[in-house]
Amino acid sequence: MDPKVHRIGVLTSGGDAPGMNAAIRAVVRTACHYGIECVGIERGYNGLISGDMKPMTARDVSGITGLGGTILYTARCPEFQTPEGLKRAADSCRFMGIDGLVAIGGDGTFRGAGELSEYGISVVGIPGTIDNDIACTGYTIGFDTACNTAIDCIDKLDDTMRSHERCSVVEVMGHRSGHLALSVGIAVGATAVLIPEKSIDYDKDLILPIREGRLRGRSSFTVIVAEGAASGHDIAEIVADKTGIDTRVTVLGHVQRGGRPASRDRIIATRMGYEAVKVLVEGGTNKIICFDGCNYSTVDIDEALKMQKGIEEDTYAILEVIHSFK
Ligand code: F6P
Repeated sequence: MDPKVHRIGVLTSGGDAPGMNAAIRAVVRTACHYGIECVGIERGYNGLISGDMKPMTARDVSGITGLGGTILYTARCPEFQTPEGLKRAADSCRFMGIDGLVAIGGDGTFRGAGELSEYGISVVGIPGTIDNDIACTGYTIGFDTACNTAIDCIDKLDDTMRSHERCSVVEVMGHRSGHLALSVGIAVGATAVLIPEKSIDYDKDLILPIREGRLRGRSSFTVIVAEGAASGHDIAEIVADKTGIDTRVTVLGHVQRGGRPASRDRIIATRMGYEAVKVLVEGGTNKIICFDGCNYSTVDIDEALKMQKGIEEDTYAILEVIHSFK
């Protein structure tokens, strides 16, 4: 097959996510397979504008599948959001002979990629964020590892909370979405989970489950708060005030973004990297690689950016049925 692109750039942008390196490796190696040159662009769109990029061979990406973070560094790039910055990035692509780009990141990354495609550069996005908040795909690279990291921390917190008969309020990341909080909350059997997709009634959603637990004989509790829903400190204060239970707050923070990627992230990232290059080889552009849990597909970037991702109601209902049982 005669590939429709000749030199592919690959970059990571926005917050890093475990598994990004596996995606980079797959992009480089798949490109090599098709005889296409690959260029690693550093610090996201900043590297496109400033020309911080280097050719990457199959050997350059050896042994990185299991590394957390991103070997290409990542950044958010306000300059790229201006017409001048965008033009400079497009000029830089042309100067370097880059006619295809794989951009790994979240919605902001795809918005930039979509705009670049209007300058005649073929672009494909790979969803990489621990938030799992991209509407067109059921899964984003890094989510599983972040869930596992949070679960591991909360399991440890549980030991000490149980010993002291305390309530543990844990604030987890997720930006404006509650996917991470909800999955983690279900996995640890949390007493309450507060997410931005649901309006919070403190008495019903927070205090009542704790009181019912207490009546059943529980003496320690775990409350998960998505950072987009409320501050863990505020929630801990409410719990302590209204229940009198000794309460401690833990903000998990950036620890959730680190660590060696779990198998799910390594495997899905590898497949997405492979699919992204195939799209470019076949002449596709302006696409995002999606995974619904079974199949891989593509969606137009413009379409994807219009979509809204909600919480699966049945998953949320689990909390009431199983966690706060009467
Ligand atoms: O999008 C990933 C994410 O980790 C969010 O969950 C969080 O709100 C944000 O990035 C933190 O960004 P920064 O690393 O810039 O503080």
